[in-house]
Amino acid sequence: MPDPVPDDIAAALARSAERRGCFGDPLYFFAETGSTNDVAAALAERGAPEGTTVIASRQTAGRGRFGRTWFSPEGAGLYVSLVCRNPEAAPLLTLAGGVAVAQGIRAACGLPVLIKWPNDIVAGEARTRRKLAGILAEASTGADGLQYVILGLGINLRPAAYPPELGDRATSIETELGRVVDAGLVLSETLAAFHPLFDRLATGDRGHVLACWRELAPSSHGALVEWTTPAGERRGTAAGIDDAGALLVKVGSRIERIISGELRWH
Ligand code: BTN
Repeated sequence: MPDPVPDDIAAALARSAERRGCFGDPLYFFAETGSTNDVAAALAERGAPEGTTVIASRQTAGRGRFGRTWFSPEGAGLYVSLVCRNPEAAPLLTLAGGVAVAQGIRAACGLPVLIKWPNDIVAGEARTRRKLAGILAEASTGADGLQYVILGLGINLRPAAYPPELGDRATSIETELGRVVDAGLVLSETLAAFHPLFDRLATGDRGHVLACWRELAPSSHGALVEWTTPAGERRGTAAGIDDAGALLVKVGSRIERIISGELRWH
């Protein structure tokens, strides 16, 4: 059973109702749950409409990319999952989620966050940039093709006792800003940013999302990257993303196309 929506979240969402389309409606809030992505998927299986949003104050089994745990202590972050059904929007949904989180944080508090391919939201100076948000899109397909995508957004709001393996790579909005942020405002501005991006994708316009992403991700051009393949270590220079969101890397005189996987950035 969901819990009552906290007043600050309800008030912020009420103020942004006209700018966030179907996102945030209906809204299910849980003081604690395993993973909001799992709750949203269960709702989608039962026919929940596009825009259905699940939020938790704490996750006991928050998931990140590559099967990692997403550290989700009580009140330290926004843990949000959106039900998306439009198949036209699906291919660039994770990029749109990253753009929305970056634009939402910027609009809510002015912190000049950036995106690191594919979808890490980072803050700080180039050499010492730390991650403060991430996106996890999980699709469900059936015999008729795509059923739905659950777009999970994890945003670190306040400092927390990060596990040692994250300690020097994670940060939060409040750590970077040096002041308190309004969680409801970050959420409502993120949903308000996501709505037009999603609508453009749903109507077949991918150019806008790609242009916004490229503007927010300067490191996708010119940074030195390394990655591991079954054949050994590879290194090259990032050369932007293509229109499918794959990272292009210049290795010697050739361009390699990286669809997913973990890169080390220098
Ligand atoms: C990443 O590894 O960068 C993606 C992290 C995504 C975390 C969010 S928190 C809300 C939603 N529920 C989950 O279990 N994961 C996503």
